[in-house]
Amino acid sequence: MEGLAWGRRYVMVEPTHFRVEYVINPFMDPADQPDPARAMAQWRGLVAAIERHGGVVEALPQRADAPDMVYAMNLGLGLERAGGAPHVVLSHMRYAERRMETRSAQPWFAAHGFATSYVGSDGVGPHLEAGDAFAFGDALIVGYGPRTEELALKHLATELGVRVRGVRITHPGMYHLDLAFCPLDEHRALVCPAALDEASAAALLDLVPEPLVLTEEEALTTFCANSIVIGSTVVMPACPDRVRAQLEEWGFEIVLVDVSEFHKGGGSIRCLTNPVDVRIGRDLPAVPGGEVVLA
Ligand code: ARG
Repeated sequence: MEGLAWGRRYVMVEPTHFRVEYVINPFMDPADQPDPARAMAQWRGLVAAIERHGGVVEALPQRADAPDMVYAMNLGLGLERAGGAPHVVLSHMRYAERRMETRSAQPWFAAHGFATSYVGSDGVGPHLEAGDAFAFGDALIVGYGPRTEELALKHLATELGVRVRGVRITHPGMYHLDLAFCPLDEHRALVCPAALDEASAAALLDLVPEPLVLTEEEALTTFCANSIVIGSTVVMPACPDRVRAQLEEWGFEIVLVDVSEFHKGGGSIRCLTNPVDVRIGRDLPAVPGGEVVLA
């Protein structure tokens, strides 16, 4: 089986200053700090697993004043265009505690050959956090509500010339779409409908021809949707037996990597990794002028 066409090139942030300093999601508790050495060892284990299975990792340094910067998924949305330079739309973080991250990410991406743009920057424009946006089927599927604002969808669609399908996140514990949705290949994805309002859950299930539906408990207690896919290998923090049985029946190989220290900040494997090889024209159809479809 071929698996997923994108997801071989990742940007990550080396966790030299990872702490839980404030509370911006229900998992964070400053009384329960990560162990720095264990976190670094787990992060290195994740890098090694990605490389062993055919992925490439580029790491940028963590700012000392940005303890959540390790969750690199949220730095921005990286996209390729056939024959064109890669482009990253930098996030405009919902919470001030994370806004400085993109100030360091911008020069790093620019130095690595990416054209960069912002959907709004400090104090102006709608919030966008890239952990809410995934190419699947005919569109960029974007979760909005807790972090990304609905208005950002219009900006994204117009700027990138793609169709954006918005789904409304209502679950406080699944505050980014990547905690509830993981594309597996062209037809399949992990989907936790409990993260979304009723109309959006139905719309998302409609968009995925073969969904592997996760219960709220599976998604919240194991972070299993917060996984990444390299070809036909699914790199996961944990995998309930029922989910494993279906993935293996479909031909996926499951690789478990312990990143439990990072669960203390409310993120897992997907949050730590930012795929920058999604290609407009291959993984995401070009739609001149852009289009937004809300559930
Ligand atoms: N503490 C971080 C925050 O609340 C965790 C980010 C998790 N990242 C993700 N892509 N879901 O912003």
